[in-house]
Amino acid sequence: MKPAEPSPQVKLPYFDYLLELLKDGNEAVAKSFGRHVHWGYWENPKQAMLSTEDFGQAAEELSAQVCQAGNIHNGLDVLDVGCGFGGTIAHINERYVRMGLVGLNLDDRQLERARATVTANGHNRIEFHQGDACALPFPDQSFDVVLAVECIFHFPDRAQFFKEAYRVLKPGGYLALSDFVPKKKLLPFTRMKLPDWRFYGKCNLQFSADHYRKLAALTQFDCLVERDITVNTLPTYRYLRKLAMHQGKIASTSAVAETLGAEILSRLALLSYVIYAFKK
Ligand SMILES: C[S@@+](CC[C@H](N)C(=O)[O-])C[C@H]1O[C@@H](n2cnc3c(N)ncnc32)[C@H](O)[C@@H]1O
Repeated sequence: MKPAEPSPQVKLPYFDYLLELLKDGNEAVAKSFGRHVHWGYWENPKQAMLSTEDFGQAAEELSAQVCQAGNIHNGLDVLDVGCGFGGTIAHINERYVRMGLVGLNLDDRQLERARATVTANGHNRIEFHQGDACALPFPDQSFDVVLAVECIFHFPDRAQFFKEAYRVLKPGGYLALSDFVPKKKLLPFTRMKLPDWRFYGKCNLQFSADHYRKLAALTQFDCLVERDITVNTLPTYRYLRKLAMHQGKIASTSAVAETLGAEILSRLALLSYVIYAFKK
């Protein structure tokens, strides 16, 4: 295995906040974001119950949808880039056998939780590594599937990540991801300079569906899935409001403003939540 390149630690205040609450034993936060740290997917959004259990299931289902796009099945080597607390690795581990599962993250604190909470069943292997999505510390052609669930907007460079994913995939392998994708008319506004203290940290929301198509062609990936699931994710915003009310306090003004901004843009169909799958 190539040694991990030195990489800058990622500054994500929302993870500092979550880790603090998890350390304090906050049960609602543990059930909502102690495993997956992403939006939920509801097949029938109108029937969303918005209980903690309901959100937990919806978050599980989002991982399932990305795995399905990535053609996950038994006997594969899978790399989950930006693996958070290892929720998607755990999801695969609980459903498939003969899997070689590797989670990669810049943040050691998240990896520590992943290692402590995710244990391989008797039929799988699991490893968690520290490293940067744009300099993957793995040999060429080592994985059947590369996943990146709701994290690519944090990576320093999507093109470099695609190049790296292509390199580490075996021929015929899949790259599957989920991302917030702006409509063309939103693009000029996404280039506005924002303050540095944002709750969700640096998020590059300037990559449109056209950019994805061009990037796929440039990196020689075939785009097999481009699925707008915005409507299936919208109950997440109501759930986040409910969770904040239950906590009795908000994380920060910036957390409220940024989440509300994303909700308004999504409801106005200016920002889409999209699942992509690409084949090498
Ligand atoms: C919204 S969270 C998603 C976590 C996980 N994929 C999930 O769905 O639960 C974004 C993740 O991307 C990770 N991340 C951000 N930049 C990264 C980079 N350059 N390389 C690897 N991971 C990165 C963060 O540490 C965080 O775990």
